[in-house]
Amino acid sequence: MPTRESCGKINLFLEITGKRNDGYHDLESIFLEIDLADRLSAEPAEAGVSLVCDAPNLSVGEDNLVVAAANALAEARGIRKGIRYVLRKRIPLGGGLGGGSSNAAAALRLANEIWEAGLSDAELARLGARLGSDVPFFLHGGTCLVEGRGERITPLPAFPNTAALVLVLSSIHSDTAAAFRGLRLGEGAERRSSADFLRAMRSGDVAAMADSAFNRFEETVFAALPGLAAIRARIRETTRVEARLSGSGSALWCFGDAADMDNRLAKDREFAELRDRYNLRIVPVRGR
Ligand code: C5P
Repeated sequence: MPTRESCGKINLFLEITGKRNDGYHDLESIFLEIDLADRLSAEPAEAGVSLVCDAPNLSVGEDNLVVAAANALAEARGIRKGIRYVLRKRIPLGGGLGGGSSNAAAALRLANEIWEAGLSDAELARLGARLGSDVPFFLHGGTCLVEGRGERITPLPAFPNTAALVLVLSSIHSDTAAAFRGLRLGEGAERRSSADFLRAMRSGDVAAMADSAFNRFEETVFAALPGLAAIRARIRETTRVEARLSGSGSALWCFGDAADMDNRLAKDREFAELRDRYNLRIVPVRGR
């Protein structure tokens, strides 16, 4: 059965540069594909698009981006064949790690292959952009500068393999559309550029990367989610490391060694309470 790894992402840098006429926002972001991944398999079927998934709380209907991706491709090319997908879910839902968009990108590639539809990368990207703003990035993967609504992709040199990353995952839910709505664009805050982060990344300087990482959503999301702000504050107190939001959250990420961080946080009583209350998990990841 043809199978694809469907990786998650984090945003190393994320600035919102303006509001568009179509209701979406323009952004300037550095996306990094990470090795925390779902696995999507597919096989031909008589007719229709179906999905089996091991995550009980994820819809397998037409609102699932895997099913939506295959339907969009079939419709675009007038294809009447069927396809059956099997999804093994590992990327947490609602974490700002791009799991749904990544699944859509993998589903498009698998359907294109199995149906021998012959869509080019550019055609897949156009179709993908309609499914979700992050889908064009996942069709590319690696490390990219992402601009516009998410459709302008500039590949960047590989993320330095010396930089170990840590994810802090929780049961906290962050609403993406609300996070965009809460932004106070152009009101005082100086617009940030990704240039410093890019320079630090090119020279492999992890300390400088940590200093120039940025996420505009932090202003509004930490205010809206005091539990998440408390988690970040305890991490800062205990380890002197600044954890950043990925996308609109709720996943946090930072540079460092996950086991070491876990050990230090385990000694902190307040962090232990937060760990129980929000089902916190500290996960080592690598860039791809
Ligand atoms: O494209 P996607 O479905 O992932 O976007 C989810 C929501 O996030 C959109 O409904 C929109 O409110 C917001 N969004 C935005 N600008 C973007 C991407 C997403 O305003 N570039």
